[in-house]
Amino acid sequence: MRTQVAIIGAGPAGLMLSHLLHLQGIESVVLETRSREDICATIRAGVLEQGTVDLMTETGLGGRLRREGFRHEGTVLRFNGVDRRIDFVELTQGRAVMVYAQHEVIKDLVDARLAAGGDIRFDVSGVSLHALESTHPSVRFTGPDGSTHILEADFIAGCDGTHGVSRAAIPAHARQTAERHYPFGWLGILCKAPPSSDELIYALGDDGFALVSTRSPQVQRMYLQCDPGDTLDDWSDDRIWSGLRARLATRDGWEPKEGEIFSKTVVGMRSMVTEPMRHGRLFLAGDAAHVVPPTGAKGLNLAMSDVRLLSRALTRYYQHRSEELLDQYSASALRRIWRAQRFSWWMTSILHRAPGADAFERKVQDANLDYLTRSRAASTALAENYVGLPMEAPW
Ligand code: FAD
Ligand code: DHB
Repeated sequence: MRTQVAIIGAGPAGLMLSHLLHLQGIESVVLETRSREDICATIRAGVLEQGTVDLMTETGLGGRLRREGFRHEGTVLRFNGVDRRIDFVELTQGRAVMVYAQHEVIKDLVDARLAAGGDIRFDVSGVSLHALESTHPSVRFTGPDGSTHILEADFIAGCDGTHGVSRAAIPAHARQTAERHYPFGWLGILCKAPPSSDELIYALGDDGFALVSTRSPQVQRMYLQCDPGDTLDDWSDDRIWSGLRARLATRDGWEPKEGEIFSKTVVGMRSMVTEPMRHGRLFLAGDAAHVVPPTGAKGLNLAMSDVRLLSRALTRYYQHRSEELLDQYSASALRRIWRAQRFSWWMTSILHRAPGADAFERKVQDANLDYLTRSRAASTALAENYVGLPMEAPW
């Protein structure tokens, strides 16, 4: 079996890359270990940057997004029992974010690829990468029926997330990893209730962080800071609601609208970047190369900006036989990735209570949030990063 670009992983990065390449007449095969049903049902991100919305719209994926997504023109920071709003539109000359679940993005991408005759192999196993330093790399995998296949390609795109095989296929001496673990995690829930707020609320209470987000008029998404070692058994519904009520309490008695909790997950928090994002004919994109803590809502959006860049570099190669953009891919992508890493690390540190934080640390956090929401310069810095830096430098 042969294709131009072998793509490992049908997450946002792999599927969008396949879609963008198709629009340029470049063939790809996507290999995915999970089933179509599974990838279309996994609950993860919710916030799309303006650039991600624009990319989806420009490439014909804007229909359902426009009808079913919620445009958010600002967000609320809540601390010391009061709300301070950050107005994205005013501070960024009209930019905003869209709340539209990651699995809906996945559904739109899978539908578009299959409608265009795209080749996505679900339920594969035993994926391994070969001859990466040659001009004829290949991927070996086992199909759902147990048969072994070899996929030959010009290039391999490693879009298989944090736990995939692509990053590990780069020899240890040829890559460097910078990493940070945080002493907290997030407990995320979905519940059947009406929206508690028109905009997302990022709150810091005495006991830590809480976030109010949404999915639809009937389903709400909320998160609260937990211990990274917690399991779901540690979090009864009663404990979740009392934790959310305490952290989200305002001086005028605001309470979240409660309803049946039908999904709970614990998410660890980590920052990680692997450099370079290329080894021979293998290019990494998305979570395969980097992970951010979720506070800045950047992970899915970074995956999208990586593959936009990679698709341009591959297009240049096929149209002009020029490797110039391929050679620049890693450095160009990493510049934007480190900006998003900085923002995600900063949002995480200002909005979470570190275990054992003393009075000084708490007061500095309060002063930070107070300054951030009172200074136009500081609010603008938050807004322009949250809605997303333009996909292309210079910034
Ligand atoms: P993934 O989505 O991880 O996709 C990789 C795919 O590769 C998977 O389908 C996997 O099954 C497959 N795979 C793995 N190994 C192999 C293999 N060996 N062979 C073939 N296939 C393989 N980001 C945001 O931008 N905004 C948010 O609001 C946000 N909120 C989040 C909230 C939570 C609770 C979590 C957990 C994450 C959040 N993120 C958010 C991050 C975002 O979900 C990820 O950054 C995003 O999924 C990365 O996309 P990806 O395509 O790189 O990787
Ligand atoms: C959501 C997730 C995030 O990580 C975030 O910062 C905001 C919202 C969400 O799932 O809705």
